[in-house]
Amino acid sequence: MKDFKYYAPTHVVFGKNTENQVGELVKKHNGKKVLLHYGGQSAIKSGLLDRVENSLKQSGIEYVKLGGVVPNPRVSLVRKGIEICKNENIDFLLAVGGGSVIDSCKAISSGRFFEGDVWELYLKKAKATKYLPIGCILTIPAAGSEMSDGSVITNEDGGFKKDYCVDEFRCKFAIMNPELTYTLPAWQTACGATDIMMHTMERYFSKDDDMEITDSIAEAVLRTVKEQVQIVLKNPTDYNSRAQIMWSGSLAHNDLTGCGTSGDWATHNLEHELSGMFDVSHGAGLAAVWGSWARYTRSENMARFARFAVNVMGVKQDFKSLEQTAEAGIVAMENFYHSIGMPTSIHELIGREITEKEILEMADKCSNYGQQTIGCLKVLSREDMAAIYRLAK
Ligand code: NZQ
Ligand code: ZN
Repeated sequence: MKDFKYYAPTHVVFGKNTENQVGELVKKHNGKKVLLHYGGQSAIKSGLLDRVENSLKQSGIEYVKLGGVVPNPRVSLVRKGIEICKNENIDFLLAVGGGSVIDSCKAISSGRFFEGDVWELYLKKAKATKYLPIGCILTIPAAGSEMSDGSVITNEDGGFKKDYCVDEFRCKFAIMNPELTYTLPAWQTACGATDIMMHTMERYFSKDDDMEITDSIAEAVLRTVKEQVQIVLKNPTDYNSRAQIMWSGSLAHNDLTGCGTSGDWATHNLEHELSGMFDVSHGAGLAAVWGSWARYTRSENMARFARFAVNVMGVKQDFKSLEQTAEAGIVAMENFYHSIGMPTSIHELIGREITEKEILEMADKCSNYGQQTIGCLKVLSREDMAAIYRLAK
Protein backbone atom coordinates (compact mmCIF):
# COMPACT_ATOMS: atom_id res chain seq x y z
CA MET A 1 0.00 0.00 0.00
CA LYS A 2 1.33 3.41 -0.94
CA ASP A 3 1.72 6.18 1.66
CA PHE A 4 -1.28 8.48 1.76
CA LYS A 5 -2.93 11.43 3.49
CA TYR A 6 -6.64 11.33 4.23
CA TYR A 7 -8.41 14.58 5.05
CA ALA A 8 -12.21 14.65 5.19
CA PRO A 9 -13.12 17.56 7.51
CA THR A 10 -16.70 18.11 6.28
CA HIS A 11 -19.38 17.96 8.96
CA VAL A 12 -22.05 15.74 7.35
CA VAL A 13 -25.66 16.12 8.49
CA PHE A 14 -27.64 13.35 6.81
CA GLY A 15 -31.36 12.56 6.91
CA LYS A 16 -34.93 13.77 6.54
CA ASN A 17 -35.66 17.50 7.04
CA THR A 18 -32.00 18.25 7.79
CA GLU A 19 -32.15 21.35 5.55
CA ASN A 20 -34.05 23.07 8.35
CA GLN A 21 -30.84 23.04 10.42
CA VAL A 22 -28.98 25.20 7.92
CA GLY A 23 -29.33 28.49 9.83
CA GLU A 24 -27.84 27.00 12.98
CA LEU A 25 -25.03 25.33 11.04
CA VAL A 26 -24.05 28.59 9.32
CA LYS A 27 -24.03 30.27 12.73
CA LYS A 28 -21.90 27.49 14.19
CA HIS A 29 -19.35 28.15 11.46
CA ASN A 30 -19.35 31.89 12.24
CA GLY A 31 -21.31 32.98 9.16
CA LYS A 32 -23.15 36.27 9.61
CA LYS A 33 -23.85 37.31 6.04
CA VAL A 34 -24.34 34.60 3.43
CA LEU A 35 -24.28 34.43 -0.35
CA LEU A 36 -27.10 31.97 -1.08
CA HIS A 37 -26.08 30.39 -4.39
CA TYR A 38 -28.37 28.09 -6.41
CA GLY A 39 -29.12 26.81 -9.90
CA GLY A 40 -32.03 27.15 -12.30
CA GLN A 41 -35.48 26.12 -11.15
CA SER A 42 -35.43 22.90 -9.14
CA ALA A 43 -34.74 24.38 -5.68
CA ILE A 44 -37.38 27.06 -6.20
CA LYS A 45 -40.04 24.69 -7.54
CA SER A 46 -39.60 22.16 -4.74
CA GLY A 47 -39.91 24.84 -2.04
CA LEU A 48 -36.41 24.06 -0.78
CA LEU A 49 -35.18 27.61 -1.24
CA ASP A 50 -38.08 28.97 0.86
CA ARG A 51 -37.25 26.53 3.66
CA VAL A 52 -33.59 27.53 3.53
CA GLU A 53 -34.45 31.24 3.68
CA ASN A 54 -36.76 30.63 6.65
CA SER A 55 -34.06 28.76 8.52
CA LEU A 56 -31.50 31.51 7.86
CA LYS A 57 -33.97 34.18 9.02
CA GLN A 58 -34.81 32.25 12.18
CA SER A 59 -31.13 32.11 13.05
CA GLY A 60 -30.70 35.82 12.37
CA ILE A 61 -28.40 35.28 9.38
CA GLU A 62 -28.44 37.95 6.67
CA TYR A 63 -28.22 36.75 3.07
CA VAL A 64 -27.99 37.84 -0.57
CA LYS A 65 -29.31 35.52 -3.28
CA LEU A 66 -27.54 34.59 -6.52
CA GLY A 67 -29.25 31.96 -8.68
CA GLY A 68 -28.73 30.89 -12.28
CA VAL A 69 -25.86 28.40 -12.02
CA VAL A 70 -26.05 26.09 -15.05
CA PRO A 71 -24.61 22.58 -15.43
CA ASN A 72 -20.94 22.98 -16.42
CA PRO A 73 -20.90 26.21 -14.35
CA ARG A 74 -19.62 29.32 -16.06
CA VAL A 75 -16.82 31.59 -14.97
CA SER A 76 -18.90 34.69 -15.87
CA LEU A 77 -21.37 33.98 -13.04
CA VAL A 78 -18.45 33.24 -10.71
CA ARG A 79 -17.07 36.72 -11.43
CA LYS A 80 -20.49 38.20 -10.63
CA GLY A 81 -20.56 36.28 -7.35
CA ILE A 82 -17.12 37.58 -6.40
CA GLU A 83 -18.26 41.18 -6.98
CA ILE A 84 -21.33 40.64 -4.79
CA CYS A 85 -19.18 39.16 -2.02
CA LYS A 86 -16.89 42.19 -2.11
CA ASN A 87 -19.67 44.78 -2.23
CA GLU A 88 -21.89 43.10 0.37
CA ASN A 89 -19.22 41.97 2.85
CA ILE A 90 -20.26 38.34 2.55
CA ASP A 91 -18.47 36.07 5.03
CA PHE A 92 -19.99 32.65 4.21
CA LEU A 93 -21.03 30.88 0.99
CA LEU A 94 -24.02 28.55 0.94
CA ALA A 95 -24.55 26.29 -2.07
CA VAL A 96 -28.03 24.83 -2.60
CA GLY A 97 -27.82 22.35 -5.46
CA GLY A 98 -25.48 19.86 -7.10
CA GLY A 99 -21.87 19.78 -8.17
CA SER A 100 -22.29 22.77 -10.46
CA VAL A 101 -23.60 25.08 -7.71
CA ILE A 102 -21.06 23.84 -5.16
CA ASP A 103 -18.20 24.24 -7.66
CA SER A 104 -19.36 27.73 -8.53
CA CYS A 105 -19.33 28.58 -4.80
CA LYS A 106 -15.83 27.16 -4.50
CA ALA A 107 -14.65 29.33 -7.38
CA ILE A 108 -16.21 32.41 -5.76
CA SER A 109 -14.52 31.44 -2.50
CA SER A 110 -11.09 31.35 -4.16
CA GLY A 111 -11.61 34.54 -6.15
CA ARG A 112 -12.94 36.68 -3.30
CA PHE A 113 -9.54 37.74 -1.91
CA PHE A 114 -7.44 37.01 -5.02
CA GLU A 115 -5.99 40.09 -6.70
CA GLY A 116 -6.10 38.76 -10.27
CA ASP A 117 -8.89 37.20 -12.34
CA VAL A 118 -10.26 33.96 -10.86
CA TRP A 119 -9.66 32.03 -14.13
CA GLU A 120 -5.89 32.34 -13.55
CA LEU A 121 -6.33 29.98 -10.59
CA TYR A 122 -7.97 27.37 -12.83
CA LEU A 123 -5.17 27.80 -15.36
CA LYS A 124 -2.80 27.05 -12.44
CA LYS A 125 -0.97 30.31 -13.05
CA ALA A 126 -1.42 31.33 -9.41
CA LYS A 127 -2.71 30.05 -6.07
CA ALA A 128 -5.12 31.88 -3.81
CA THR A 129 -4.01 32.36 -0.23
CA LYS A 130 -7.32 33.22 1.44
CA TYR A 131 -10.75 31.65 0.92
CA LEU A 132 -14.33 32.19 2.06
CA PRO A 133 -15.83 29.22 3.96
CA ILE A 134 -18.49 27.14 2.19
CA GLY A 135 -21.43 25.01 3.32
CA CYS A 136 -23.84 23.12 1.09
CA ILE A 137 -27.24 21.52 0.83
CA LEU A 138 -26.85 18.74 -1.73
CA THR A 139 -29.74 18.08 -4.14
CA ILE A 140 -28.15 15.56 -6.52
CA PRO A 141 -25.73 12.78 -5.63
CA ALA A 142 -23.16 12.78 -8.41
CA ALA A 143 -20.06 15.00 -8.47
CA GLY A 144 -19.09 14.40 -4.83
CA SER A 145 -18.15 18.07 -4.55
CA GLU A 146 -19.81 18.20 -1.11
CA MET A 147 -16.74 16.48 0.38
CA SER A 148 -14.10 16.86 -2.33
CA ASP A 149 -11.27 19.37 -2.66
CA GLY A 150 -12.06 20.08 -6.31
CA SER A 151 -13.99 22.61 -8.35
CA VAL A 152 -14.55 22.38 -12.11
CA ILE A 153 -15.43 25.55 -14.01
CA THR A 154 -16.13 26.25 -17.68
CA ASN A 155 -14.86 29.34 -19.45
CA GLU A 156 -17.43 30.01 -22.14
CA ASP A 157 -14.81 32.03 -23.99
CA GLY A 158 -13.24 29.16 -25.95
CA GLY A 159 -15.12 26.28 -24.29
CA PHE A 160 -12.39 25.45 -21.77
CA LYS A 161 -13.24 23.36 -18.72
CA LYS A 162 -10.62 23.33 -15.95
CA ASP A 163 -10.33 22.19 -12.37
CA TYR A 164 -8.67 23.70 -9.32
CA CYS A 165 -8.13 21.58 -6.21
CA VAL A 166 -7.21 22.80 -2.72
CA ASP A 167 -8.15 21.62 0.78
CA GLU A 168 -9.76 25.00 1.49
CA PHE A 169 -12.49 23.92 -0.97
CA ARG A 170 -13.72 21.20 1.37
CA CYS A 171 -17.15 22.23 2.65
CA LYS A 172 -17.46 23.10 6.34
CA PHE A 173 -20.75 21.24 6.38
CA ALA A 174 -22.82 19.22 3.93
CA ILE A 175 -26.54 18.76 4.50
CA MET A 176 -27.85 15.66 2.75
CA ASN A 177 -31.53 14.82 2.76
CA PRO A 178 -32.23 11.95 0.33
CA GLU A 179 -35.85 13.13 0.00
CA LEU A 180 -34.56 16.21 -1.84
CA THR A 181 -33.47 13.91 -4.67
CA TYR A 182 -36.96 12.48 -5.34
CA THR A 183 -37.58 15.17 -7.97
CA LEU A 184 -34.52 14.29 -10.05
CA PRO A 185 -35.34 13.33 -13.64
CA ALA A 186 -34.30 9.74 -14.56
CA TRP A 187 -31.54 11.10 -16.82
CA GLN A 188 -29.93 13.12 -14.01
CA THR A 189 -30.25 10.19 -11.60
CA ALA A 190 -28.44 7.96 -14.10
CA CYS A 191 -25.77 10.58 -14.89
CA GLY A 192 -25.17 10.96 -11.16
CA ALA A 193 -24.84 7.21 -10.56
CA THR A 194 -22.39 6.98 -13.46
CA ASP A 195 -20.24 9.78 -12.05
CA ILE A 196 -20.23 8.21 -8.57
CA MET A 197 -19.12 4.88 -10.02
CA MET A 198 -16.45 6.57 -12.13
CA HIS A 199 -14.98 8.40 -9.13
CA THR A 200 -14.50 4.99 -7.57
CA MET A 201 -13.23 3.37 -10.77
CA GLU A 202 -10.70 6.13 -11.45
CA ARG A 203 -9.07 5.20 -8.15
CA TYR A 204 -9.60 1.44 -8.51
CA PHE A 205 -7.94 0.97 -11.91
CA SER A 206 -4.37 1.62 -10.90
CA LYS A 207 -1.09 -0.13 -11.51
CA ASP A 208 -0.47 -0.63 -7.81
CA ASP A 209 -0.63 -3.93 -5.97
CA ASP A 210 -4.01 -5.02 -4.60
CA MET A 211 -4.94 -3.28 -1.35
CA GLU A 212 -7.69 -5.47 -0.01
CA ILE A 213 -9.26 -2.93 2.35
CA THR A 214 -9.40 -0.11 -0.20
CA ASP A 215 -10.39 -2.43 -3.06
CA SER A 216 -13.17 -4.02 -1.02
CA ILE A 217 -14.61 -0.64 -0.03
CA ALA A 218 -14.47 0.45 -3.67
CA GLU A 219 -16.18 -2.70 -4.89
CA ALA A 220 -18.91 -2.32 -2.26
CA VAL A 221 -19.58 1.27 -3.40
CA LEU A 222 -19.71 0.13 -7.03
CA ARG A 223 -22.06 -2.80 -6.40
CA THR A 224 -24.31 -0.69 -4.18
CA VAL A 225 -24.75 2.12 -6.70
CA LYS A 226 -25.20 -0.32 -9.57
CA GLU A 227 -28.04 -2.10 -7.74
CA GLN A 228 -29.69 0.90 -6.07
CA VAL A 229 -29.85 3.07 -9.18
CA GLN A 230 -31.95 0.42 -10.91
CA ILE A 231 -34.36 0.52 -7.98
CA VAL A 232 -34.77 4.31 -7.94
CA LEU A 233 -35.22 4.47 -11.69
CA LYS A 234 -38.31 2.29 -11.16
CA ASN A 235 -39.36 3.93 -7.91
CA PRO A 236 -37.97 7.48 -7.56
CA THR A 237 -39.29 7.87 -4.01
CA ASP A 238 -37.58 4.82 -2.52
CA TYR A 239 -35.94 6.53 0.48
CA ASN A 240 -33.55 3.75 1.35
CA SER A 241 -32.17 3.44 -2.17
CA ARG A 242 -31.89 7.21 -2.62
CA ALA A 243 -30.06 7.38 0.72
CA GLN A 244 -27.57 4.68 -0.21
CA ILE A 245 -26.77 6.38 -3.51
CA MET A 246 -26.39 9.73 -1.81
CA TRP A 247 -23.93 8.49 0.79
CA SER A 248 -22.05 6.46 -1.82
CA GLY A 249 -21.60 9.68 -3.81
CA SER A 250 -19.74 11.29 -0.93
CA LEU A 251 -17.65 8.21 -0.08
CA ALA A 252 -16.71 7.82 -3.74
CA HIS A 253 -15.10 11.24 -3.88
CA ASN A 254 -13.87 12.07 -0.37
CA ASP A 255 -10.78 9.95 -1.15
CA LEU A 256 -11.83 6.96 0.98
CA THR A 257 -11.86 4.66 -2.06
CA GLY A 258 -8.39 5.83 -3.05
CA CYS A 259 -6.37 5.45 0.14
CA GLY A 260 -3.06 3.86 -0.84
CA THR A 261 -3.62 3.91 -4.61
CA SER A 262 -2.33 6.21 -7.33
CA GLY A 263 -5.56 6.97 -9.14
CA ASP A 264 -5.85 7.28 -12.91
CA TRP A 265 -8.32 10.09 -13.83
CA ALA A 266 -7.77 9.82 -17.58
CA THR A 267 -11.48 9.20 -18.27
CA HIS A 268 -12.36 12.36 -16.34
CA ASN A 269 -9.80 14.39 -18.25
CA LEU A 270 -11.06 13.06 -21.57
CA GLU A 271 -14.65 13.80 -20.52
CA HIS A 272 -14.02 17.36 -19.41
CA GLU A 273 -13.12 18.20 -23.02
CA LEU A 274 -16.39 16.66 -24.20
CA SER A 275 -18.53 18.68 -21.80
CA GLY A 276 -16.35 21.76 -22.42
CA MET A 277 -16.94 21.49 -26.19
CA PHE A 278 -20.48 20.06 -26.41
CA ASP A 279 -21.99 21.15 -23.05
CA VAL A 280 -23.16 17.58 -22.32
CA SER A 281 -23.84 16.12 -18.86
CA HIS A 282 -20.60 15.08 -17.16
CA GLY A 283 -21.86 11.59 -16.18
CA ALA A 284 -23.05 10.80 -19.70
CA GLY A 285 -19.73 11.96 -21.14
CA LEU A 286 -17.89 9.58 -18.82
CA ALA A 287 -20.03 6.62 -19.91
CA ALA A 288 -19.40 7.51 -23.56
CA VAL A 289 -15.61 7.17 -23.31
CA TRP A 290 -14.98 4.72 -20.47
CA GLY A 291 -15.25 1.49 -22.53
CA SER A 292 -12.80 2.82 -25.11
CA TRP A 293 -10.37 3.95 -22.43
CA ALA A 294 -10.65 0.52 -20.76
CA ARG A 295 -9.92 -1.39 -23.97
CA TYR A 296 -7.00 0.90 -24.78
CA THR A 297 -5.33 0.51 -21.38
CA ARG A 298 -6.39 -2.85 -19.91
CA SER A 299 -3.22 -4.71 -20.95
CA GLU A 300 -1.39 -2.63 -18.31
CA ASN A 301 -3.21 -4.53 -15.55
CA MET A 302 -5.40 -7.26 -16.99
CA ALA A 303 -5.75 -8.92 -13.59
CA ARG A 304 -7.43 -5.82 -12.16
CA PHE A 305 -9.92 -5.63 -15.02
CA ALA A 306 -10.69 -9.32 -14.47
CA ARG A 307 -11.16 -8.73 -10.74
CA PHE A 308 -13.56 -5.87 -11.55
CA ALA A 309 -15.47 -8.12 -13.95
CA VAL A 310 -15.97 -10.82 -11.34
CA ASN A 311 -16.36 -8.82 -8.11
CA VAL A 312 -18.39 -5.88 -9.44
CA MET A 313 -20.09 -6.97 -12.65
CA GLY A 314 -20.78 -10.55 -11.57
CA VAL A 315 -19.02 -12.05 -14.60
CA LYS A 316 -17.88 -15.69 -14.38
CA GLN A 317 -14.11 -16.01 -14.30
CA ASP A 318 -12.67 -17.57 -17.48
CA PHE A 319 -9.73 -19.45 -16.00
CA LYS A 320 -8.18 -20.00 -19.42
CA SER A 321 -8.12 -16.31 -20.32
CA LEU A 322 -7.75 -13.30 -18.11
CA GLU A 323 -8.33 -11.15 -21.20
CA GLN A 324 -11.69 -12.79 -21.96
CA THR A 325 -12.80 -12.16 -18.37
CA ALA A 326 -11.66 -8.54 -18.56
CA GLU A 327 -13.48 -7.99 -21.86
CA ALA A 328 -16.66 -9.59 -20.50
CA GLY A 329 -16.50 -7.13 -17.58
CA ILE A 330 -16.21 -4.13 -19.92
CA VAL A 331 -19.11 -5.41 -22.04
CA ALA A 332 -21.20 -5.95 -18.88
CA MET A 333 -20.46 -2.38 -17.77
CA GLU A 334 -21.50 -1.01 -21.18
CA ASN A 335 -24.70 -3.06 -21.06
CA PHE A 336 -25.37 -1.63 -17.60
CA TYR A 337 -24.83 1.93 -18.90
CA HIS A 338 -27.33 1.27 -21.69
CA SER A 339 -29.80 -0.24 -19.21
CA ILE A 340 -29.89 3.05 -17.26
CA GLY A 341 -30.09 5.18 -20.40
CA MET A 342 -26.43 6.21 -20.67
CA PRO A 343 -24.52 6.40 -23.98
CA THR A 344 -21.43 4.28 -24.62
CA SER A 345 -20.10 6.24 -27.59
CA ILE A 346 -19.60 9.89 -28.52
CA HIS A 347 -22.07 9.38 -31.36
CA GLU A 348 -24.79 8.42 -28.89
CA LEU A 349 -23.73 11.25 -26.57
CA ILE A 350 -23.90 14.17 -29.02
CA GLY A 351 -26.36 12.71 -31.53
CA ARG A 352 -24.03 12.89 -34.56
CA GLU A 353 -20.62 11.78 -35.80
CA ILE A 354 -17.77 13.69 -34.22
CA THR A 355 -15.33 15.12 -36.78
CA GLU A 356 -11.58 14.46 -36.89
CA LYS A 357 -11.02 18.21 -36.42
CA GLU A 358 -13.04 18.13 -33.17
CA ILE A 359 -11.13 15.05 -31.97
CA LEU A 360 -7.80 16.76 -32.56
CA GLU A 361 -8.98 19.95 -30.85
CA MET A 362 -10.05 17.99 -27.76
CA ALA A 363 -6.75 16.09 -27.68
CA ASP A 364 -4.91 19.41 -28.01
CA LYS A 365 -6.80 20.97 -25.10
CA CYS A 366 -6.62 17.82 -22.95
CA SER A 367 -2.86 17.61 -23.37
CA ASN A 368 -2.39 21.36 -23.04
CA TYR A 369 -1.19 21.39 -26.63
CA GLY A 370 1.13 18.44 -26.17
CA GLN A 371 2.70 19.72 -22.96
CA GLN A 372 1.05 17.32 -20.51
CA THR A 373 0.11 13.67 -20.26
CA ILE A 374 -2.85 12.18 -18.40
CA GLY A 375 -3.50 8.87 -16.68
CA CYS A 376 -1.53 6.62 -14.43
CA LEU A 377 -2.52 3.06 -15.33
CA LYS A 378 -1.19 3.95 -18.78
CA VAL A 379 0.33 7.37 -19.28
CA LEU A 380 -1.47 8.89 -22.26
CA SER A 381 0.05 11.31 -24.76
CA ARG A 382 -1.89 13.65 -27.06
CA GLU A 383 -1.83 10.91 -29.73
CA ASP A 384 -3.20 8.35 -27.25
CA MET A 385 -6.00 10.75 -26.31
CA ALA A 386 -6.97 11.21 -29.96
CA ALA A 387 -6.85 7.43 -30.44
CA ILE A 388 -9.25 6.87 -27.53
CA TYR A 389 -11.66 9.54 -28.84
CA ARG A 390 -11.55 7.77 -32.23
CA LEU A 391 -12.26 4.40 -30.59
CA ALA A 392 -15.20 6.00 -28.74
CA LYS A 393 -16.53 7.66 -31.90
O1 NZQ B 1 -30.35 24.04 -12.04
P1 NZQ B 1 -31.43 23.18 -11.49
O2 NZQ B 1 -32.79 23.64 -11.86
O3 NZQ B 1 -31.26 22.97 -10.00
O4 NZQ B 1 -31.29 21.75 -12.22
C1 NZQ B 1 -30.21 20.86 -11.97
C2 NZQ B 1 -29.33 20.66 -13.21
O5 NZQ B 1 -30.03 20.93 -14.39
C3 NZQ B 1 -30.76 19.47 -11.77
N1 NZQ B 1 -31.08 19.17 -10.37
C4 NZQ B 1 -30.25 19.20 -9.31
N2 NZQ B 1 -30.87 18.79 -8.22
C5 NZQ B 1 -32.15 18.50 -8.58
C6 NZQ B 1 -32.29 18.76 -9.96
N3 NZQ B 1 -33.45 18.57 -10.62
C7 NZQ B 1 -34.49 18.13 -9.91
N4 NZQ B 1 -34.43 17.84 -8.59
C8 NZQ B 1 -33.29 18.01 -7.89
N5 NZQ B 1 -33.22 17.68 -6.60
O6 NZQ B 1 -29.76 18.59 -12.19
C9 NZQ B 1 -29.01 19.19 -13.22
C10 NZQ B 1 -27.55 18.86 -13.02
O7 NZQ B 1 -27.04 19.53 -11.87
P2 NZQ B 1 -25.46 19.63 -11.68
O8 NZQ B 1 -25.19 20.34 -10.41
O9 NZQ B 1 -24.83 20.15 -12.93
O10 NZQ B 1 -25.03 18.09 -11.56
P3 NZQ B 1 -23.78 17.40 -10.94
O11 NZQ B 1 -23.86 17.32 -9.47
O12 NZQ B 1 -23.61 16.16 -11.70
O13 NZQ B 1 -22.55 18.38 -11.24
C11 NZQ B 1 -21.87 18.33 -12.47
C12 NZQ B 1 -20.68 19.25 -12.45
O14 NZQ B 1 -19.75 18.84 -11.44
C13 NZQ B 1 -18.44 18.70 -12.04
C14 NZQ B 1 -18.78 18.28 -13.44
O15 NZQ B 1 -17.71 18.42 -14.32
C15 NZQ B 1 -19.95 19.20 -13.77
O16 NZQ B 1 -19.49 20.47 -14.14
N6 NZQ B 1 -17.62 17.80 -11.23
C16 NZQ B 1 -17.17 18.28 -10.05
C17 NZQ B 1 -16.33 17.53 -9.24
C18 NZQ B 1 -15.83 18.05 -7.96
N7 NZQ B 1 -16.08 19.33 -7.66
O17 NZQ B 1 -15.19 17.36 -7.16
C19 NZQ B 1 -15.86 16.20 -9.64
C20 NZQ B 1 -16.64 15.59 -10.74
O18 NZQ B 1 -15.87 14.63 -11.37
C21 NZQ B 1 -17.16 16.55 -11.76
O19 NZQ B 1 -16.16 16.84 -12.74
ZN1 ZN C 1 -16.86 13.09 -12.06
